[in-house]
Amino acid sequence: MATAQIGVYGLGTMGSALALNLAEQGTRVAVANREVEWLAGFMAEAGPLAAVLEPCKTLEDFVASIKLPRVILFMIPSGAPMDAMIAAVLPLLAPGDTLIDGGNADFHDTRRRSDDLASRNIHFVGMGVSGGEAGARHGPSMMVGGSGHSWQQLQPIFTAIAAKYEGDPCVAHLGPDGAGHFVKTVHNGIEYADMQVIAEVYGLMRYGLARSPHDIGAAFTRWNEGPLRSYLVEITGKALGYDDPATGHPAVDVIQDAAGQKGTGRWTVIEAARLGQSASMIDAAVAARSWSSEKATRVLAEAILCGDRTALDLGVDVLEAAFLAARILGYAQGFRILEAASREYEWTLNYVRIAQIWRAGCIIRSALLDDIADAFGADMPGGQLILAPSIAAKLDETIPALRRVLAAAIVGGHAVPALSAAIGWFDTMRQGRGTADIIQAQRDFFGHHGYARLDEKGVHHGPWWD
Ligand code: 6PG
Repeated sequence: MATAQIGVYGLGTMGSALALNLAEQGTRVAVANREVEWLAGFMAEAGPLAAVLEPCKTLEDFVASIKLPRVILFMIPSGAPMDAMIAAVLPLLAPGDTLIDGGNADFHDTRRRSDDLASRNIHFVGMGVSGGEAGARHGPSMMVGGSGHSWQQLQPIFTAIAAKYEGDPCVAHLGPDGAGHFVKTVHNGIEYADMQVIAEVYGLMRYGLARSPHDIGAAFTRWNEGPLRSYLVEITGKALGYDDPATGHPAVDVIQDAAGQKGTGRWTVIEAARLGQSASMIDAAVAARSWSSEKATRVLAEAILCGDRTALDLGVDVLEAAFLAARILGYAQGFRILEAASREYEWTLNYVRIAQIWRAGCIIRSALLDDIADAFGADMPGGQLILAPSIAAKLDETIPALRRVLAAAIVGGHAVPALSAAIGWFDTMRQGRGTADIIQAQRDFFGHHGYARLDEKGVHHGPWWD
């Protein structure tokens, strides 16, 4: 007997949290998992919510227990496992059913799967879900891509479980096929840049100002009351306040300084480059994670290349302002990638709505996103976020601090790749006449590539070719 309103397949951290969130909102959920033995533990964890959960041991039972037209949410690893899953479930489906991939999928895969499944009358939805385990359980931010038809069916279910920002649900249908997964990828790219900026600011306080982790944590906690308010600042402040129970040292001091990455930051950079865009801060953040993993080389280099870092004469307020400037530029780079993709794939992304659904539930939620949503909703010269009057005014206030911090950091030998990328991009973009004229001259000189003149149409060559 089909009674479930939705099926959730994949009871890992995110899948089980979403299934419980759905159940808590009164949705009847069929659940299944590749490792059938996980079901018992999940049902025990569900407590009273078990009443609206239907555990299914086989894929056949799972599909059969969901009402037509079916909605099935897959929370499984992206890539080949998702293709294998689709192949397995497809013979069990009926025309009009909807499959949702809620993982961090490559949007190219999502576009391909949407096309393949549409030809079989199955709807495919690529949905980015942000917020980690707590978000999934109590209110994530969800970026939905797929047909309008699917969205009609999904809207009430996902609106109920989404995070709310002053009552506004942080879920939206952003466009067809890969739009949702692309927006989630860029969300993660911005996340990478913001995390790297935080790491650099932490490094300057720790190694330039000789502050203790607890002290730095207190500064982050204070900043979280002002314009830098955000989830990442909040958790950084909290994390720096903890001590390691085994050694009594600050917890951060017992963690290896080698960062992991699952790939979404790298995808953002790759897609930005494909679209002819710049994501230099996100690139710097991805690079910094890769360099962090070269621990042996860094240890060796510290002796050979003199790894000294000098003390910095900087106030904490200057760091706060520099951080805000860099955060604005990181988000702005992310939105430029979205704009380029929206044009390329004809998605007509709604940037106001994207900023709005990122205001709660997701990892990059921050006070700045409210300002960004307002800026996109008002007049924006050239459609550029950094030129919106309110954002330009914030940059005007904070860029001098970023310059001061960078000047001191670079002279002092501190590593600031993302902060440097921020100012490099900012200074390039604010100059009406740049230096690409000489690039064009060189290209023409060595390769006869030609250039455009300021005073005449057409392709020209330099006097070096006369
Ligand atoms: C989120 C996170 C989430 C996950 C990333 C982390 O929005 O909830 O971004 O998707 O934590 O995959 O990625 P890395 O392992 O690459 O840092």
